[in-house]
Amino acid sequence: MVGHGVIQRYRKFLPVSDETCIISLNEGNTPLIESFNLVQALGGGFRMFVKYEGLNPTASFKDRGMTLAVTKAVEKGARAIVCASTGNTSASAAAYAARAGMTCLVLIPEGKISYGKMAQALIHGAKTIEIRGNFDDALELVRELGLRDDFEIVNSINPFRIQGQKTGAFEICDVLGDAPDMHFLPVGNAGNITSYWLGYREYKENGHSNSLPRMMGWQAEGAAPIVRGEPIESPETIATAIRIGNPASWDLASRASEESSGAIDCVSDEEILDAHRLLARTEGLFVEPASAAGIAGIVKSKARGEIPEGSILAVTVTGHGLKDPGIAIDNANTKSVVVESDIESVLEAIGME
Ligand code: F0G
Repeated sequence: MVGHGVIQRYRKFLPVSDETCIISLNEGNTPLIESFNLVQALGGGFRMFVKYEGLNPTASFKDRGMTLAVTKAVEKGARAIVCASTGNTSASAAAYAARAGMTCLVLIPEGKISYGKMAQALIHGAKTIEIRGNFDDALELVRELGLRDDFEIVNSINPFRIQGQKTGAFEICDVLGDAPDMHFLPVGNAGNITSYWLGYREYKENGHSNSLPRMMGWQAEGAAPIVRGEPIESPETIATAIRIGNPASWDLASRASEESSGAIDCVSDEEILDAHRLLARTEGLFVEPASAAGIAGIVKSKARGEIPEGSILAVTVTGHGLKDPGIAIDNANTKSVVVESDIESVLEAIGME
């Protein structure tokens, strides 16, 4: 077996054949980490497992879907891929396109993607266009470009993205031996909640698990169209990855929440930042702000008494904290101290004699 990516590991669940030339960066197989300290900090009574997707090759969950989307684009003979993005999809698309020797075009909202993500698109050689508009405007343009023969769209409106991302659910079941009771995750364009629900159902139908989780999706308060029941024209949140006002997979996400007796709710930027710091401080896990929305959702659900005693929770933290170091420095609530280079000054600075 060449490579260890998600297509190789789960190929019987994915639309590939023996002839398919797989474009992979060995994505997937990310750690599922039990969070004892955080659970204790919240008062206990449940178990919680963090799926740390920041350890994928481009440091977000997008790689699971991108390996399949780019593999299928190559199979079809496409020479260029295109996406709209709040930053992670573009980083992933740029990397997989480089791997495949394809042209990549990314459309991003001007000034609204984090530094790390911009660095990724540029270093992998993607044609990077900032538009004077938001993600939703960019996706409209991409839909139009996709009508031309030259471009293959690799946003999650491409069904292969959803298919690839469902492998996150498979991996969780493989480690836990069954599905969790509840699955928490952030919701932006709503592809990932759709993918996980698909994955959990397929795994159960094929006898690899016995139960299904309640799907608990979390939007940011200023970008919560599904919660409000209407598109948001000018979404705003510090969690730029989920700054989306009209999610492409809105209906499928609502269906996942309804069919699973779950919910889609929202958390404020303050709750997101608190969860961002809490996870880093209690568990040593550094994620980007959008990823902390699922953690904030757990904090909120626990406070409301909505986590039944003895439950097993999984939470997908979708992107690495180093994507957005500026926010981490602002949110750390602590600063480094500059002192003279002698031992007395160091001890004095930390309050020791
Ligand atoms: N978390 C992160 C870090 C993301 O980058 C995204 C989406 C989400 C959560 C939400 O996932 O869209 O499947 O509901 N980022 C997309 C992008 C929109 O362009 O990178 P979703």
